[in-house]
Amino acid sequence: MGAQQSGSLIDDLSALEIEGLGAVESAGTPEALEAVRVAFLGRKDGKVSGILRRLGELSAEERPPVGAAANRVRDRLQSALDAREQALRGDAEAPPILDDLTLPARHRWIGGRHPITQAIDEIVSIFRSLGFTLARGPEAETEWYNFEALNTPLDHPAADAQDTFYLKDGHLLRSHTSPVQVRVLERHAPPVRILAPGMVYRRDSYDATHTPAFAQIEGLAVDEGLSFVDLKATLGEFARRYWGPGTRVRFRPSFFPFTEPSAEVDVKRVLRNPKGDTVETPWIEIMGAGMVDPAVLEALKIDSERYTGFAFGMGPGRIALLRHGVPDLRLFYENDVRFLSQFARP
Ligand code: DAH
Repeated sequence: MGAQQSGSLIDDLSALEIEGLGAVESAGTPEALEAVRVAFLGRKDGKVSGILRRLGELSAEERPPVGAAANRVRDRLQSALDAREQALRGDAEAPPILDDLTLPARHRWIGGRHPITQAIDEIVSIFRSLGFTLARGPEAETEWYNFEALNTPLDHPAADAQDTFYLKDGHLLRSHTSPVQVRVLERHAPPVRILAPGMVYRRDSYDATHTPAFAQIEGLAVDEGLSFVDLKATLGEFARRYWGPGTRVRFRPSFFPFTEPSAEVDVKRVLRNPKGDTVETPWIEIMGAGMVDPAVLEALKIDSERYTGFAFGMGPGRIALLRHGVPDLRLFYENDVRFLSQFARP
Protein backbone atom coordinates (compact mmCIF):
# COMPACT_ATOMS: atom_id res chain seq x y z
CA MET A 1 0.00 0.00 0.00
CA GLY A 2 1.48 3.38 -0.98
CA ALA A 3 1.71 6.74 0.75
CA GLN A 4 -1.40 7.77 -1.12
CA GLN A 5 -3.36 5.05 0.61
CA SER A 6 -2.26 6.11 4.10
CA GLY A 7 -3.07 9.73 3.15
CA SER A 8 -6.55 8.73 2.08
CA LEU A 9 -7.12 6.78 5.31
CA ILE A 10 -6.21 9.96 7.22
CA ASP A 11 -8.70 11.89 5.05
CA ASP A 12 -11.35 9.24 5.80
CA LEU A 13 -10.64 9.68 9.50
CA SER A 14 -11.08 13.46 9.35
CA ALA A 15 -14.39 12.98 7.54
CA LEU A 16 -15.46 10.41 10.17
CA GLU A 17 -14.60 12.81 12.95
CA ILE A 18 -16.77 15.55 11.48
CA GLU A 19 -19.60 13.13 10.81
CA GLY A 20 -19.33 11.63 14.32
CA LEU A 21 -19.24 14.98 16.13
CA GLY A 22 -22.34 16.04 14.16
CA ALA A 23 -24.17 12.82 15.08
CA VAL A 24 -23.26 13.25 18.77
CA GLU A 25 -24.55 16.81 18.73
CA SER A 26 -27.89 15.86 17.16
CA ALA A 27 -28.56 12.80 19.37
CA GLY A 28 -31.62 13.87 21.42
CA THR A 29 -31.93 10.93 23.86
CA PRO A 30 -29.51 8.66 25.78
CA GLU A 31 -30.63 5.78 23.50
CA ALA A 32 -29.87 7.70 20.32
CA LEU A 33 -26.50 8.64 21.80
CA GLU A 34 -25.70 4.99 22.57
CA ALA A 35 -26.55 4.14 18.95
CA VAL A 36 -24.06 6.80 17.80
CA ARG A 37 -21.40 5.33 20.10
CA VAL A 38 -21.90 1.85 18.66
CA ALA A 39 -21.93 3.14 15.07
CA PHE A 40 -18.60 4.96 15.44
CA LEU A 41 -16.67 3.38 18.32
CA GLY A 42 -18.32 -0.05 18.56
CA ARG A 43 -15.68 -2.76 18.81
CA LYS A 44 -17.15 -4.94 16.09
CA ASP A 45 -18.85 -2.75 13.48
CA GLY A 46 -17.81 0.75 14.56
CA LYS A 47 -16.50 2.92 11.71
CA VAL A 48 -13.33 4.02 13.53
CA SER A 49 -12.58 0.47 14.62
CA GLY A 50 -12.95 -0.54 10.96
CA ILE A 51 -10.14 1.80 10.02
CA LEU A 52 -7.96 0.68 12.93
CA ARG A 53 -8.38 -2.87 11.71
CA ARG A 54 -7.05 -1.88 8.28
CA LEU A 55 -3.74 -0.70 9.82
CA GLY A 56 -2.39 -4.17 9.22
CA GLU A 57 -2.48 -3.55 5.46
CA LEU A 58 -0.09 -0.61 5.80
CA SER A 59 3.70 -0.76 5.71
CA ALA A 60 5.63 -0.33 8.96
CA GLU A 61 6.44 3.36 8.21
CA GLU A 62 2.88 4.24 7.24
CA ARG A 63 1.24 2.70 10.26
CA PRO A 64 2.22 5.17 13.02
CA PRO A 65 0.70 8.38 11.50
CA VAL A 66 -2.56 6.63 10.60
CA GLY A 67 -2.68 4.91 14.00
CA ALA A 68 -2.07 8.21 15.78
CA ALA A 69 -4.79 9.93 13.73
CA ALA A 70 -7.26 7.11 14.48
CA ASN A 71 -6.53 7.31 18.21
CA ARG A 72 -6.99 11.08 18.16
CA VAL A 73 -10.38 10.76 16.42
CA ARG A 74 -11.44 8.03 18.86
CA ASP A 75 -10.50 10.17 21.88
CA ARG A 76 -12.26 13.24 20.53
CA LEU A 77 -15.45 11.30 19.80
CA GLN A 78 -15.28 9.69 23.23
CA SER A 79 -14.96 13.09 24.94
CA ALA A 80 -17.85 14.46 22.88
CA LEU A 81 -19.99 11.41 23.75
CA ASP A 82 -19.23 11.86 27.46
CA ALA A 83 -20.05 15.55 27.37
CA ARG A 84 -23.28 14.97 25.48
CA GLU A 85 -24.26 12.21 27.89
CA GLN A 86 -23.91 14.51 30.86
CA ALA A 87 -25.93 17.18 29.11
CA LEU A 88 -28.72 14.74 28.20
CA ARG A 89 -28.88 13.44 31.77
CA GLY A 90 -29.87 16.95 32.70
CA ASP A 91 -26.72 17.21 34.72
CA ALA A 92 -26.68 20.74 36.09
CA GLU A 93 -22.88 20.88 35.80
CA ALA A 94 -21.43 22.72 32.85
CA PRO A 95 -19.89 20.42 30.25
CA PRO A 96 -16.14 20.00 30.73
CA ILE A 97 -13.99 22.49 28.91
CA LEU A 98 -11.80 20.55 26.49
CA ASP A 99 -9.22 23.24 25.75
CA ASP A 100 -6.75 24.84 28.10
CA LEU A 101 -8.17 28.33 28.47
CA THR A 102 -5.07 29.61 30.26
CA LEU A 103 -2.99 29.35 27.08
CA PRO A 104 -2.32 32.69 25.37
CA ALA A 105 -4.46 33.29 22.30
CA ARG A 106 -2.90 32.43 18.95
CA HIS A 107 -1.89 35.47 16.95
CA ARG A 108 -3.71 35.93 13.73
CA TRP A 109 -1.47 35.55 10.68
CA ILE A 110 -0.96 38.90 8.98
CA GLY A 111 0.93 39.11 5.72
CA GLY A 112 3.84 41.49 5.26
CA ARG A 113 5.61 43.13 2.34
CA HIS A 114 8.49 41.21 0.79
CA PRO A 115 11.90 42.59 1.88
CA ILE A 116 12.71 43.63 -1.70
CA THR A 117 9.34 45.39 -1.99
CA GLN A 118 10.12 47.14 1.30
CA ALA A 119 13.45 48.35 -0.14
CA ILE A 120 11.72 49.54 -3.36
CA ASP A 121 9.04 51.40 -1.41
CA GLU A 122 11.60 53.10 0.80
CA ILE A 123 13.82 54.10 -2.15
CA VAL A 124 10.81 55.36 -4.12
CA SER A 125 9.61 57.45 -1.19
CA ILE A 126 13.06 59.09 -0.74
CA PHE A 127 13.18 60.02 -4.44
CA ARG A 128 9.56 61.16 -4.33
CA SER A 129 10.54 63.70 -1.70
CA LEU A 130 13.33 64.84 -4.06
CA GLY A 131 10.73 65.56 -6.76
CA PHE A 132 10.76 62.32 -8.78
CA THR A 133 7.48 60.75 -9.92
CA LEU A 134 6.81 57.09 -10.67
CA ALA A 135 6.92 55.67 -14.21
CA ARG A 136 6.45 52.15 -15.55
CA GLY A 137 7.17 50.34 -18.77
CA PRO A 138 6.38 46.89 -20.19
CA GLU A 139 8.45 43.81 -19.28
CA ALA A 140 8.08 42.46 -22.83
CA GLU A 141 10.04 44.99 -24.88
CA THR A 142 11.34 45.39 -28.41
CA GLU A 143 15.03 45.31 -29.31
CA TRP A 144 14.62 48.93 -30.24
CA TYR A 145 13.67 50.14 -26.77
CA ASN A 146 15.90 47.72 -24.88
CA PHE A 147 19.07 48.37 -26.92
CA GLU A 148 19.03 50.54 -30.04
CA ALA A 149 17.21 53.59 -28.68
CA LEU A 150 19.69 53.45 -25.80
CA ASN A 151 22.58 53.95 -28.22
CA THR A 152 23.44 50.22 -28.10
CA PRO A 153 23.73 48.61 -31.56
CA LEU A 154 22.71 44.94 -31.45
CA ASP A 155 26.26 43.84 -32.33
CA HIS A 156 27.78 45.97 -29.54
CA PRO A 157 29.40 43.94 -26.70
CA ALA A 158 27.10 45.75 -24.24
CA ALA A 159 24.13 44.03 -25.91
CA ASP A 160 25.86 40.64 -25.50
CA ALA A 161 26.46 41.28 -21.81
CA GLN A 162 22.72 41.62 -21.34
CA ASP A 163 21.59 38.51 -23.20
CA THR A 164 17.95 37.87 -22.34
CA PHE A 165 14.95 35.73 -23.24
CA TYR A 166 13.23 36.15 -26.61
CA LEU A 167 9.52 35.64 -27.19
CA LYS A 168 8.22 33.95 -30.36
CA ASP A 169 6.80 37.20 -31.73
CA GLY A 170 10.23 38.91 -31.67
CA HIS A 171 9.74 40.74 -28.37
CA LEU A 172 12.25 40.15 -25.60
CA LEU A 173 12.06 40.29 -21.82
CA ARG A 174 13.72 43.60 -20.96
CA SER A 175 17.25 43.14 -19.60
CA HIS A 176 17.16 46.42 -17.66
CA THR A 177 14.70 49.18 -16.74
CA SER A 178 16.56 51.72 -18.93
CA PRO A 179 14.03 51.42 -21.82
CA VAL A 180 11.57 53.24 -19.55
CA GLN A 181 13.81 56.31 -20.02
CA VAL A 182 13.07 56.22 -23.75
CA ARG A 183 9.34 55.58 -23.32
CA VAL A 184 9.01 58.50 -20.91
CA LEU A 185 10.99 60.93 -23.08
CA GLU A 186 8.91 59.97 -26.15
CA ARG A 187 5.77 61.13 -24.43
CA HIS A 188 6.88 63.88 -22.06
CA ALA A 189 8.83 66.99 -22.93
CA PRO A 190 11.50 68.01 -20.37
CA PRO A 191 11.69 68.83 -17.54
CA VAL A 192 11.32 65.19 -16.55
CA ARG A 193 12.21 63.51 -13.25
CA ILE A 194 11.10 59.88 -12.93
CA LEU A 195 11.84 56.73 -11.01
CA ALA A 196 10.91 53.41 -12.65
CA PRO A 197 11.00 50.22 -10.55
CA GLY A 198 10.28 46.84 -12.16
CA MET A 199 11.40 43.32 -12.99
CA VAL A 200 14.15 42.64 -15.52
CA TYR A 201 15.45 39.40 -17.04
CA ARG A 202 18.81 38.01 -18.12
CA ARG A 203 20.20 34.72 -19.32
CA ASP A 204 22.15 34.47 -16.08
CA SER A 205 23.02 31.65 -13.72
CA TYR A 206 20.99 31.04 -10.58
CA ASP A 207 23.43 31.40 -7.68
CA ALA A 208 24.08 33.36 -4.48
CA THR A 209 24.47 36.68 -6.35
CA HIS A 210 22.52 36.17 -9.63
CA THR A 211 18.97 35.29 -10.56
CA PRO A 212 17.59 35.25 -14.13
CA ALA A 213 14.74 37.54 -13.02
CA PHE A 214 15.40 40.41 -10.64
CA ALA A 215 14.20 43.86 -9.66
CA GLN A 216 15.77 47.12 -10.82
CA ILE A 217 15.02 50.77 -10.24
CA GLU A 218 15.77 53.27 -12.98
CA GLY A 219 16.08 57.00 -12.38
CA LEU A 220 16.09 59.78 -14.97
CA ALA A 221 16.19 63.57 -14.79
CA VAL A 222 16.27 65.79 -17.91
CA ASP A 223 16.16 69.56 -17.67
CA GLU A 224 17.99 72.71 -18.69
CA GLY A 225 21.34 73.09 -16.98
CA LEU A 226 21.65 69.70 -15.25
CA SER A 227 25.26 68.66 -14.69
CA PHE A 228 27.26 65.92 -13.01
CA VAL A 229 27.04 68.01 -9.82
CA ASP A 230 23.26 67.43 -9.75
CA LEU A 231 23.79 63.68 -10.22
CA LYS A 232 26.32 63.53 -7.36
CA ALA A 233 24.19 65.67 -5.07
CA THR A 234 21.03 63.65 -5.76
CA LEU A 235 22.65 60.24 -5.25
CA GLY A 236 24.59 61.47 -2.20
CA GLU A 237 21.39 62.76 -0.63
CA PHE A 238 19.64 59.48 -1.41
CA ALA A 239 22.47 57.39 0.11
CA ARG A 240 22.58 59.45 3.31
CA ARG A 241 18.82 59.21 3.74
CA TYR A 242 18.76 55.47 3.05
CA TRP A 243 21.91 54.32 4.90
CA GLY A 244 22.37 57.12 7.42
CA PRO A 245 24.02 60.56 7.60
CA GLY A 246 27.61 59.24 7.84
CA THR A 247 27.36 57.34 4.53
CA ARG A 248 30.05 58.13 1.94
CA VAL A 249 29.56 57.90 -1.81
CA ARG A 250 32.24 57.28 -4.45
CA PHE A 251 31.98 57.57 -8.25
CA ARG A 252 34.28 55.35 -10.34
CA PRO A 253 34.62 55.91 -14.10
CA SER A 254 32.79 53.28 -16.12
CA PHE A 255 31.06 52.75 -19.45
CA PHE A 256 27.43 52.50 -20.49
CA PRO A 257 26.40 53.17 -24.10
CA PHE A 258 23.56 55.50 -23.07
CA THR A 259 25.51 57.73 -20.67
CA GLU A 260 28.59 59.91 -21.16
CA PRO A 261 30.41 60.16 -18.83
CA SER A 262 29.41 57.00 -16.96
CA ALA A 263 30.14 55.88 -13.43
CA GLU A 264 29.76 53.02 -10.99
CA VAL A 265 28.55 54.31 -7.65
CA ASP A 266 29.83 52.77 -4.40
CA VAL A 267 28.77 53.49 -0.83
CA LYS A 268 30.65 53.06 2.39
CA ARG A 269 28.76 53.11 5.65
CA VAL A 270 30.35 54.70 8.67
CA LEU A 271 28.88 53.27 11.86
CA ARG A 272 29.59 53.11 15.54
CA ASN A 273 29.90 49.80 17.33
CA PRO A 274 28.49 49.33 20.87
CA LYS A 275 31.84 50.38 22.37
CA GLY A 276 31.60 53.72 20.57
CA ASP A 277 34.40 53.11 18.04
CA THR A 278 33.87 54.17 14.46
CA VAL A 279 33.65 51.24 12.02
CA GLU A 280 33.57 51.50 8.24
CA THR A 281 32.13 48.94 5.86
CA PRO A 282 34.09 48.27 2.66
CA TRP A 283 33.07 50.20 -0.47
CA ILE A 284 30.01 48.45 -1.89
CA GLU A 285 28.88 48.93 -5.50
CA ILE A 286 25.20 49.84 -5.61
CA MET A 287 24.45 51.25 -9.06
CA GLY A 288 25.44 52.43 -12.49
CA ALA A 289 24.88 56.07 -13.41
CA GLY A 290 25.92 58.87 -15.73
CA MET A 291 24.95 61.87 -17.82
CA VAL A 292 22.42 60.94 -20.52
CA ASP A 293 24.35 60.58 -23.80
CA PRO A 294 23.37 63.46 -26.16
CA ALA A 295 22.84 60.81 -28.89
CA VAL A 296 19.94 59.35 -26.87
CA LEU A 297 18.31 62.79 -26.55
CA GLU A 298 18.86 63.71 -30.21
CA ALA A 299 17.30 60.42 -31.42
CA LEU A 300 14.22 61.45 -29.44
CA LYS A 301 14.27 64.91 -31.06
CA ILE A 302 15.23 66.61 -27.81
CA ASP A 303 17.63 69.52 -28.29
CA SER A 304 20.81 68.33 -26.52
CA GLU A 305 22.31 71.84 -26.62
CA ARG A 306 19.46 73.06 -24.45
CA TYR A 307 18.70 70.00 -22.32
CA THR A 308 20.96 67.70 -20.38
CA GLY A 309 20.12 64.85 -18.06
CA PHE A 310 21.40 62.27 -15.64
CA ALA A 311 20.33 58.67 -15.15
CA PHE A 312 21.02 55.80 -12.82
CA GLY A 313 20.00 52.17 -12.34
CA MET A 314 20.18 50.14 -9.14
CA GLY A 315 19.27 46.67 -7.89
CA PRO A 316 17.00 46.78 -4.84
CA GLY A 317 17.54 43.02 -4.31
CA ARG A 318 21.24 43.65 -3.74
CA ILE A 319 20.45 46.66 -1.57
CA ALA A 320 18.04 44.61 0.60
CA LEU A 321 20.67 41.84 0.82
CA LEU A 322 23.28 44.27 2.12
CA ARG A 323 20.88 45.94 4.51
CA HIS A 324 19.83 42.70 6.19
CA GLY A 325 23.16 40.85 5.92
CA VAL A 326 21.57 38.03 3.90
CA PRO A 327 24.29 35.82 2.37
CA ASP A 328 22.37 34.41 -0.60
CA LEU A 329 20.06 36.26 -3.01
CA ARG A 330 18.12 33.07 -3.73
CA LEU A 331 16.60 33.18 -0.24
CA PHE A 332 14.61 36.23 -1.34
CA TYR A 333 13.09 34.41 -4.29
CA GLU A 334 12.25 30.98 -2.88
CA ASN A 335 9.14 32.06 -0.95
CA ASP A 336 9.97 30.19 2.23
CA VAL A 337 7.72 31.85 4.79
CA ARG A 338 10.06 30.85 7.65
CA PHE A 339 12.69 33.10 6.06
CA LEU A 340 10.43 35.87 4.78
CA SER A 341 8.37 36.28 7.97
CA GLN A 342 11.49 37.63 9.72
CA PHE A 343 11.05 40.78 7.66
CA ALA A 344 7.34 41.25 8.35
CA ARG A 345 6.57 44.67 9.71
CA PRO A 346 3.19 45.36 11.28
N1 DAH B 1 20.91 49.67 -17.29
C1 DAH B 1 22.17 49.41 -16.61
C2 DAH B 1 22.26 47.93 -16.29
O1 DAH B 1 21.27 47.31 -16.09
C3 DAH B 1 22.27 50.19 -15.33
C4 DAH B 1 22.39 51.65 -15.59
C5 DAH B 1 23.63 52.22 -15.74
C6 DAH B 1 21.26 52.45 -15.69
C7 DAH B 1 23.77 53.58 -15.95
C8 DAH B 1 21.38 53.81 -15.91
C9 DAH B 1 22.66 54.36 -16.05
O2 DAH B 1 20.32 54.61 -16.03
O3 DAH B 1 22.75 55.70 -16.26
O4 DAH B 1 23.34 47.40 -16.22
